[in-house]
Amino acid sequence: MNDGHSLVETPELAALHRRLAEYSLGGHWQSREKNPELVAHVWPWSVIYSCLMESGDVVKLGGIDDAAKRRTVQLVNPSLTNKKATSRTLQMSIQLVKAGERAECHRHTAAALRFVVEADGTAYTNVEGEQMLMEPGDLVLTPNWTWHDHFNPGDKNVVWLDVLDIHLSNHLDAVFQENYGEGPAQPIVKSDGYCKQRLSAIRPRVKNASNAALPYTYKWRDTLRALQDIDGAGGNDPHDGVLLEYVHPLTGGPTMPTIGCWVQWLRPGETTKPHRHTSSTIYHVVEGEGITTVSPKKTAGKELGWRSRDCFFVPSWNWHQFQNTSKKDPAIIFSVTDRPVLESLGLFREEA
Ligand SMILES: [Fe+2]
Repeated sequence: MNDGHSLVETPELAALHRRLAEYSLGGHWQSREKNPELVAHVWPWSVIYSCLMESGDVVKLGGIDDAAKRRTVQLVNPSLTNKKATSRTLQMSIQLVKAGERAECHRHTAAALRFVVEADGTAYTNVEGEQMLMEPGDLVLTPNWTWHDHFNPGDKNVVWLDVLDIHLSNHLDAVFQENYGEGPAQPIVKSDGYCKQRLSAIRPRVKNASNAALPYTYKWRDTLRALQDIDGAGGNDPHDGVLLEYVHPLTGGPTMPTIGCWVQWLRPGETTKPHRHTSSTIYHVVEGEGITTVSPKKTAGKELGWRSRDCFFVPSWNWHQFQNTSKKDPAIIFSVTDRPVLESLGLFREEA
């Protein structure tokens, strides 16, 4: 491999470079701009939340001059401030819908999901006509190009994490967005739980099931029970504790083609073994406290200390390991990853 630096720029080579540039060509030996290295980072919930509440006072939902008309505080990787992005592929933001507010109906090619943080169960996301009620810990999918709107008829705030594959779709020049033409909300034609019933293990026959994501809700009570049961049965992964994937209800494959959702349970005092893989992960601590040690090299890592509701990011191919610093309580962490993209393209690799 020629890295270009060893080439002495003779007058002839300089002339060739000028000529190449003139015709919008380049030599393989010439250097090029590298992607900035992404950094591990923690966003404390106390800071996210206070900024979000402040945004509730100063940013009126209906007044946002943007097709999306959403009030969110976005997590920005310190290496991607120019793109305002959490990772190269995914965006995690925290959305606030105050009592009586509605986030209007639209659809977009970016796939999205919501993980509920604060709610009393009255607010809902309407996905393709289904009223999906939102309780803390619920995961609600709004697959790409599905109509969705949010409404909070209660008297308290509703707060959730929004995750979109927007940077990936943007990179692929495949971003389309459309506002619903018949008013701020689509009609509710299916009651809460419809998708789960139609897509559960006993269901009407589905013809031609594909890996395309489906509107779907994973209720926290089911997630928590699964974590507790599998922990009780000793289903522990050395690198992640009890690690569960939110699978596609028909194929058993990843949650969505572009975003995988996972939840893990670290036992009191547990420290996992380090590993690394080519996929980047954004974490949200559901409950508990601990430290994730992250390092691009196997030596001295950066310690990300976290507590309930904090969010943190581990870049691709960085060694990482988890420690639950509580001696009496488990730690539960929800995460989203671009791993399905890497796996489907044959680019996933892992080292323990
Ligand atoms: Fe949206």
